[in-house]
Amino acid sequence: MIDLLLKRRSTRKFTSQNIETDKKEKLIQAALLSPTARNLHSCEIIVIEDKKMLEKLAVSKPHGGTFLSNAPMGIVIIGNTNKTDVWVEDASIAAIDVQLEAESLGLGSCWIQIRGRNYSENKSAGEYIKELLNIPSYYDVASIIAIGYKASTSVDSSLKDIDRSRVHLENF
Ligand SMILES: Cc1cc2nc3c(=O)[nH]c(=O)nc-3n(C[C@H](O)[C@H](O)[C@H](O)COP(=O)(O)O)c2cc1C
Repeated sequence: MIDLLLKRRSTRKFTSQNIETDKKEKLIQAALLSPTARNLHSCEIIVIEDKKMLEKLAVSKPHGGTFLSNAPMGIVIIGNTNKTDVWVEDASIAAIDVQLEAESLGLGSCWIQIRGRNYSENKSAGEYIKELLNIPSYYDVASIIAIGYKASTSVDSSLKDIDRSRVHLENF
């Protein structure tokens, strides 16, 4: 597991190669197998491969997501807010599980933050996406995970560089 954590770096440049059906299925399984509070499964996903829709989602916020238009796939991570007050946690766990599964399949990925971000002055990124994808009002959008084959690779993280000062033993 540590090896996978060291290897996973954000990928924002993808080749045009589509993701094979069996790999797609594994990414979906990763999202659905992630743990959820009280096992209520508040997290749902919308798998997007349509190029035009990816382009529309890429402009959900002014910065930090435009590379989605060049990804072969985006997984929109949404939470059913009627099920639990901790849908954000459920959605975040699903998102990172998808990213780690992507890495293990030889794919690259990047988290695009949607919750708390704005599409325009008077519309949130989440509202914009809910309209685009016909998502019911009682869901919120957490993030979009852009996924595809890596067009460039980043250096792996290193255990030498981890900041041990963030670890507190027994007391702060
Ligand atoms: C909660 C969260 C939100 C993020 N939002 C964005 C985003 O909107 N756009 C983006 O390009 N990267 C985003 N990232 C990716 C981070 O910038 C990236 O994980 C971080 O810089 C560390 O780099 P690494 O993933 O290569 O290790 C986000 C990551 C997390 C965990």
